[in-house]
Amino acid sequence: MSRKREQFDVLILGSGAAGLGLALQLSPLLSICVISKGTLEESSTYYAQGGISAALDQADTAESHVQDTMRTGSGLCHEDTVRHAIAEGPAAIQWLIEQGVEFTRENGHELHLTREGGHSHRRIVHSADTTGRSVEEALVSRTQRATNITLMPHHIAIDLITAAKTGRKYNRCLGAYILDIHDNSVNTIAAKTVVLATGGASKAYCYTSNPDGSTGDGIAMAWRAGCRVANMEFIQFHPTCLYHPQAKSFLITEALRGEGALLKLPSGECFMHRFDERAELAPRDIVARAIDHEMKRIGAECLYLDISHKSTDFIEARFPNIYTKCRLFGFDLTKEPIPIVPAAHYTCGGVMTGLHGETDLPGLYAIGEAACTGLHGANRMASNSLLECLVFARAASRHINAKIHDMEIITKLPTWDESRVTDSDEEVVVSHNWDELRHFMWDYVGIVRTDKRLQRARRRVELLLLEIDEYYSNFRITSDLLELRNLSTCAELIIRCAQHRKESRGLHYTLDYPEPYKEREPVDTVLVPRNFAPAGTYLPGSDG
Ligand code: FAD
Ligand code: SIN
Repeated sequence: MSRKREQFDVLILGSGAAGLGLALQLSPLLSICVISKGTLEESSTYYAQGGISAALDQADTAESHVQDTMRTGSGLCHEDTVRHAIAEGPAAIQWLIEQGVEFTRENGHELHLTREGGHSHRRIVHSADTTGRSVEEALVSRTQRATNITLMPHHIAIDLITAAKTGRKYNRCLGAYILDIHDNSVNTIAAKTVVLATGGASKAYCYTSNPDGSTGDGIAMAWRAGCRVANMEFIQFHPTCLYHPQAKSFLITEALRGEGALLKLPSGECFMHRFDERAELAPRDIVARAIDHEMKRIGAECLYLDISHKSTDFIEARFPNIYTKCRLFGFDLTKEPIPIVPAAHYTCGGVMTGLHGETDLPGLYAIGEAACTGLHGANRMASNSLLECLVFARAASRHINAKIHDMEIITKLPTWDESRVTDSDEEVVVSHNWDELRHFMWDYVGIVRTDKRLQRARRRVELLLLEIDEYYSNFRITSDLLELRNLSTCAELIIRCAQHRKESRGLHYTLDYPEPYKEREPVDTVLVPRNFAPAGTYLPGSDG
């Protein structure tokens, strides 16, 4: 199979809000390549509903947004990161408006602000209930018009190319191997800077609100390349996804609860006030756990969300997408409660970064859901994720614009070696392992954990990783195999982090240690890979 070699100043893996936000804010004098696994639009960003948080109301303050974020993050948010992200929020919204995003306005003028769990004010800017679609379409359209940006949809990054692997003195990222899904050929792309904007890893769970591509590829690639990964135990489960066999855990935005929707038992009784004084608007960890608890207590397959007390005109205008989707599945939001269950939604942990998205490996950045910046701590507050994507895209663009001229491009990179592999004769192994992984993660590493369940999951994932490694070494790669390999790596990182934390905090709840640490300050769970070498470390055995 013929293989191409290409080179760019900046290679961005991912075309969601983080990747495209960065591409559009880098200097137009740089050559930029953006890769995405599917179409450019397909991403978690596209499916975002609720909106983007920013303290814009006269009665609101940045300080209040900071305090809500820190309280929701249960003691693990990094205050400097929180303050930085929130201070930049209004500018990020303004930038989106300049890119052509049309947000919902009141009386055709002021931005309409909605409310979600954990927020003490109305501060979520939105485009009805399809905010992500408006953002993604505007950013895709802008990047398509930029002459310095090469867009490569239907390409999947396999692995990063590091200087350590090419015998150089000091380590740094030199590019990546990219599989062209059209013809299964592997391209070698050299770049001065590589950016992971590959999203989260919620596909590790059987039930998820995320699209199929959320397989934690960037987190796994960074880990293999020697970067530290943190806080992977904090997987967020969204409390309200539509319960219907064909609905693929379709999300019912928290903004419904922000506008007065109530959670109910099958009997019609409300229950959230028994768990938290903020009731339906408590942070997500509390609401998801309460739903899980009630479902187990009464043996129900689902609970219900009811907004039927609001007027039909209001519901149809404010939530047109959800209204239409529910009708498709035979539910009428305006007349009845709809069945809901929690599903895996967001990866709070990820590749450890600084305030500009820089990772442990020089020349490699991580932004958006793939990164762990310290903004979310042990539980992300609603609508703080798109905010993080945009703020860190901007911060990384400034850093890269300033540094890139000092960086050289290494074009003589080893090409992908397929000389010792053959086509697989047993694709069923891959699909079987996918199913097995996602089921045991749901059963053993879900909303409620125990030491024993985590130990079981650890044994299974270690076995899977061995099998996948063997398969990877012997057979020609496919996108399914790459995703399974990455997802298994992320699953192992989630389990290891969860085993490390001997307390319950935020999204990590274990029956064996149901209370948070009292005798000591909580710290991030940081996993250090075997090949970790702090920036600037001389690599023994290099040829200079
Ligand atoms: P994504 O938008 O997921 O994009 C990832 C990109 O990386 C994709 O282009 C993908 O193709 C590409 N990619 C991945 N792996 C590879 C690879 N190996 N090679 C090449 N390309 C790769 N957050 C909010 O703040 N507000 C909301 O209202 C909100 N609602 C949500 C609703 C839903 C249903 C979901 C799923 C999430 C929601 N979130 C919301 C979370 C938020 O949407 C995501 O965290 C955010 O969009 C992540 O953006 P990202 O750019 O980091 O990644
Ligand atoms: C939602 O609209 O409920 C999702 C918001 C988020 O994940 O931030």
